[in-house]
Amino acid sequence: MFPERRLRRLRKRTMQPLFQETALCTDDLVVPLFFDEVATEPVPIASMPGQYRYPVGMAAEIAQDIAAAGIRAVILFGIPARKDAGGTEAYNPEGVIQQSVRAIKSAVPELVVITDVCACEYTDHGHCGIVGETPCGPDLLNDPSLELMSQIAVSHAEAGADIVAPSCMLDGMVMAIREELDCEGYEETAIMSYSSKFASALYGPFRDAADSGFSFGDRTTYQMSPANPREALLESEMDAKEGADILMVKPASLYLDILQSVASLGLPVAAYQVSGEYAMIKAAAANGWIDEKAVALESLLAIKRAGADLIITYYAMDAAGWLK
Ligand code: PBG
Ligand code: ZN
Repeated sequence: MFPERRLRRLRKRTMQPLFQETALCTDDLVVPLFFDEVATEPVPIASMPGQYRYPVGMAAEIAQDIAAAGIRAVILFGIPARKDAGGTEAYNPEGVIQQSVRAIKSAVPELVVITDVCACEYTDHGHCGIVGETPCGPDLLNDPSLELMSQIAVSHAEAGADIVAPSCMLDGMVMAIREELDCEGYEETAIMSYSSKFASALYGPFRDAADSGFSFGDRTTYQMSPANPREALLESEMDAKEGADILMVKPASLYLDILQSVASLGLPVAAYQVSGEYAMIKAAAANGWIDEKAVALESLLAIKRAGADLIITYYAMDAAGWLK
């Protein structure tokens, strides 16, 4: 006890770095990218300053810039030219994501390409799979949507995706996708499951960006309640047993307790710092109320400290520069 123990002894400026317990590094970062089938030039996303919907024709050059920044992985989202009730464009071999994956893998083969496997950008109703009548009204149908997810995942793997990332929160999605990938000869394609994904109010800017808002209801019958930490752990445990290679917690900053418990399961864990988290930092910084770089790096370090191996963040390119 004081005065014998003085923790400030090791906090002298010259000694601080020796005792740093956690560090963020560029290898942790994953860049989210939006590819828009109809765009002919980058379209700025109003609620996410600094982020764009890119034309597929720019995929190769963007991938080169990202690799040149020292980043090893990207996660792709597509905005198709056409939507329908079945989300059929999501598994079109010539679809926006399939084309983008091929362009990136041929330009920069060593860049790890992750694809978001979901239907909400591709369905006219905006829900994450097949919708139908249930005793409680229209809702996302679980088992009929599993086949759609498997088809999407296989089409991404066929285009060259290294990792497919189902984000629809359907029961059995990891098992269904694993079976179909293996059956089609893609046993080396990894699955990163959005295993503990919450029905969060922080996805608003993304839904503008990806044009993936829903036309009725909400996503609370498939995404998780922010109130349920035990259920969140169960979700991730089940996905691990179904064969997920990587688990995910999303959003990140408001769910660090969940992240810490999911990391204790032993599989690699990704955390997704979502659009609303980015937008909040951007907006406060634009008002001069916070120091953007300091807050962004502090938020990413906190996510790392809680146990994330990978951090998907719209700040990835900035952070890679700041960490140099
Ligand atoms: C699609 C998906 C969403 C996000 C990633 N994949 C939106 C949603 O579930 O409504 C959100 C990402 C972000 O907000 O940055 N299911
Ligand atoms: Zn979705």
